[in-house]
Amino acid sequence: MVDRAAPLNVADIGCGTGASTILLARLLNARITAVDFLQDFLDVLEERARSIGVADRVSTLACSMDNLPFADEELDIIWSEGAIYNIGFQKGVADWRRYLKAGGLLVASEITWTTDSRPPELQNHWDNEYPEIDVASAKIRVLEKHGYSPVGYFVLPEHCWLDQYYRPMQARFEDFLKRNDNSEEAHAIVDAEQREIDLYETYKAHISYGVYIARKLG
Ligand SMILES: C[S@@+](CC[C@H](N)C(=O)[O-])C[C@H]1O[C@@H](n2cnc3c(N)ncnc32)[C@H](O)[C@@H]1O
Repeated sequence: MVDRAAPLNVADIGCGTGASTILLARLLNARITAVDFLQDFLDVLEERARSIGVADRVSTLACSMDNLPFADEELDIIWSEGAIYNIGFQKGVADWRRYLKAGGLLVASEITWTTDSRPPELQNHWDNEYPEIDVASAKIRVLEKHGYSPVGYFVLPEHCWLDQYYRPMQARFEDFLKRNDNSEEAHAIVDAEQREIDLYETYKAHISYGVYIARKLG
């Protein structure tokens, strides 16, 4: 769906240290604006882009995703992995639309129920953490209601949660606690993360990240 040779204008919103930005810069002939509100993450991203040789195609922007400086219809692609929840899926989908050219693509991942009903323990946890959590059909409906035509949806596999996310996080718990003098607050953070991991491992048939791809209608 994307012309890899075209000089596309892409924004990676909530880019973190640039896992997706770097991949996109390698795959596309695009100018990519990597947006995050934490300058420390953008510094890491810039260093990675330099060392991989794509710095000429990547620029960083320290900015909140609810106050973006893009012009109307400036972007060919908006990419946002694991980040739109910070302002809510519906708000992000609605607010960011105007930055896309007609026919431009939105690619956003969002936590998603993968079954129609869930054990109450899991449901209650996520209703508290992120009340917008829903099934894929509801997320796709949000896209349709806000002037997009859905073109694809897939679910991130289990290894993304365990090998790429939870296991590396767990490996850092001890160091995190040490750096924070074993404070009560630090323990509370670790305990909350461990509880989420336990819930995931018990109920992983019911929950994942969905990746939603949609085209802006003209
Ligand atoms: C879970 S990380 C995902 C990072 C990256 N997209 C990835 O997949 O590796 C979410 C990112 O959103 C950023 N973020 C959170 N709230 C934000 C806001 N209001 N504006 C811009 N960035 C924000 C965080 O700093 C963090 O880097």
